[in-house]
Amino acid sequence: IDELLTEGVAGRRVFVRADLNVPLDGTTITDDGRIRAVVPTVAKLAEAGARVVVASHLGRPKGAPDPAFSLAPAAARLGELLGADVAFATDTVGDSARATVAGLTDGQVAVIENLRFNAGETSKDDAERGAFADRLAELADVYVGDGFGAVHRKHASVFDLPARLPHYAGYLIATEVGVLKKLTTDVQRPYAVVLGGAKVSDKLGVIDHLLERADRILIGGGMVFTFLAAQGHEVGSSLLQEDQIPVVKEYIERAKERGVEFVLPVDVLVAGEFPDMKTKAPANPATVAADAIPAGQMGLDIGPESRKLYASKLADTATVFWNGPMGVFEHPDYAEGTRAVAQALIDSPAFTVVGGGDSAAAVRILGFDENAFGHISTGGGASLEYLEGKTLPGLAALED
Ligand code: 3PG
Repeated sequence: IDELLTEGVAGRRVFVRADLNVPLDGTTITDDGRIRAVVPTVAKLAEAGARVVVASHLGRPKGAPDPAFSLAPAAARLGELLGADVAFATDTVGDSARATVAGLTDGQVAVIENLRFNAGETSKDDAERGAFADRLAELADVYVGDGFGAVHRKHASVFDLPARLPHYAGYLIATEVGVLKKLTTDVQRPYAVVLGGAKVSDKLGVIDHLLERADRILIGGGMVFTFLAAQGHEVGSSLLQEDQIPVVKEYIERAKERGVEFVLPVDVLVAGEFPDMKTKAPANPATVAADAIPAGQMGLDIGPESRKLYASKLADTATVFWNGPMGVFEHPDYAEGTRAVAQALIDSPAFTVVGGGDSAAAVRILGFDENAFGHISTGGGASLEYLEGKTLPGLAALED
């Protein structure tokens, strides 16, 4: 946006597509990292006299207004961070949005309501998305893309709107792309990747890609059990994607051929049931060997020996990319695996990149200093798809 600022933005309505998709507990924001990440762009535009219209999605409402997914708490937090009054429109392209934007004075900021309260935002139909983008375009003179977390979505505000307005990339997108580019073009070795999260099916593309690039891939989270099952072990009642076993077997074979090391937990924390996430009552998990999970028990975190193993595998690396928690870290009994990986990244001399909504939130929720990591990405799916080498609609639209 430096180019835009040089042109001058005073008095112009600038639409900033942010990603304010923050975790909420009711109306309380539990991690405001994504809001803080867009502040430099919004503040700079406001300082230069733009009338800034900030837009985002939050959660996955069904194309209609739903108070549980209102952006009002995020708008209030943005105001606090900017130290300014931020106006809030209670709809996205309706009377409230039009009046709010018309009422902006130079240097003022408004947030419009959740883009996904409109079916056109996420529609697969080009015409329906285009019609919604036309209405968004009426609210602004210029477009600034800065919602890195959503650039992998071919949505109206990400992909169609920039084609309708002069468009620029914000500071956040520029930083994110700069860092991730290093991991794809000029990575320092040894390069280790830690992948966690529930489903292996969400990570197939990136594993496929990393088998050609990484030296070591450490697996955690619910995905572990599909890997253990692929090695012929019983996994009790743990999360298992049986249909993915053949592809995981193929990856294990390919890793051997290519000299890529897959690191799996040697022990896991198990319990008879998923913990109560509301009360967070003690779950009293047991530690068992990863190849001896008893029937009826589910694995919910990596165990103490695995923590040591993972830390040692990260100690001598030059670059680490980490996406996805190691266990159900939101429950204190299952947070240690994720905590150990975060600490290992901090202790390692490597350039460390934490990618992903969940792992980024985890390091903050567990109380780590964000500055101790090389880079914390605001994008989960977006950073993975970038690493896979996919064309991301929101970046393609800005490069155009
Ligand atoms: C994310 O949380 O990864 C982004 O905000 C995108 O959200 P989505 O997966 O609901 O499109």
